[in-house]
Amino acid sequence: MYDGFKSELLQTAQLAALNASDIHMKYFGKHKEIEHKLNEFDLVTNADKESEEIIIKTIRNKFAHHNVLSEEFNNDIETAEFTWIIDPLDGTTNYAHNYPQFCVSIGLMHRGDIIVGVVYDPVKNELFHAIKGSGAFLNTREIKVSSVKKVSESLLATGFPYDRRNKKANNMDYFEAFSYKAQAIRRPGSAALDLCYLACGRFDGFWELKLAPWDTAAGAIIVKEAGGIVSNFFSDSFDIFTKHIIASNPYIYDEMTTIIRETNPELPEV
Ligand code: IPD
Ligand code: CA
Ligand code: CA
Repeated sequence: MYDGFKSELLQTAQLAALNASDIHMKYFGKHKEIEHKLNEFDLVTNADKESEEIIIKTIRNKFAHHNVLSEEFNNDIETAEFTWIIDPLDGTTNYAHNYPQFCVSIGLMHRGDIIVGVVYDPVKNELFHAIKGSGAFLNTREIKVSSVKKVSESLLATGFPYDRRNKKANNMDYFEAFSYKAQAIRRPGSAALDLCYLACGRFDGFWELKLAPWDTAAGAIIVKEAGGIVSNFFSDSFDIFTKHIIASNPYIYDEMTTIIRETNPELPEV
């Protein structure tokens, strides 16, 4: 794939993200229509739906034949050479409470491989992006993961699934284990931003269960391009359709996977 085409793909993802963020900011801090999806924890607002519409419109305007996999309306995977993987608003619970930690996340998969990732936080005006093989950036600055060498010196991030009340695999066991080992843990509420914060060295490691492809597609390539490692729980590689993730700088990765495996020697049922 030639460089000009890659830049066109990136520019389209960035334009779609900026268009979505106009919708986010239009309703942020104001009255929103809030509905429940799976249960009382799982929310969707009119801003999620409207921003998804504008993202898909922006992409289809440029690439009419590309496939789209997005959270609210279009979450059936079809086989296509190019698939855009979209979370129109990651951090909806934060957004619904006017807590300023949310973003739009757009990844592009080419024949099964993620090649572009864009994540935009409109409140802090932080635009993260990566193209496979070309590094990761925060606005115009190239970013790298941290060089913290031990879990005991690390700041980690995680999140908890929406079915945590009824299901055993609710991350409490891993959270407890890491709480005793890490310097501290944060639960910011947007997995895509957690991955970007890891990519720019604000976090040293991240793990979570039951994430969807739109939560991780863009963030995972941004972490890898920033020099980090991303995998599923009992694997050396990462598949966005497998619902568990460990990501970290290269130094604490082995220690994190050991803690995960010692906490629960079986794969959690997700
Ligand atoms: C959620 C956020 C959260 C994570 C949840 C996700 P949403 O996405 O990324 O941090 O813990 O598992 O579902 O619902 O706000 O798009
Ligand atoms: Ca999400
Ligand atoms: Ca979402």
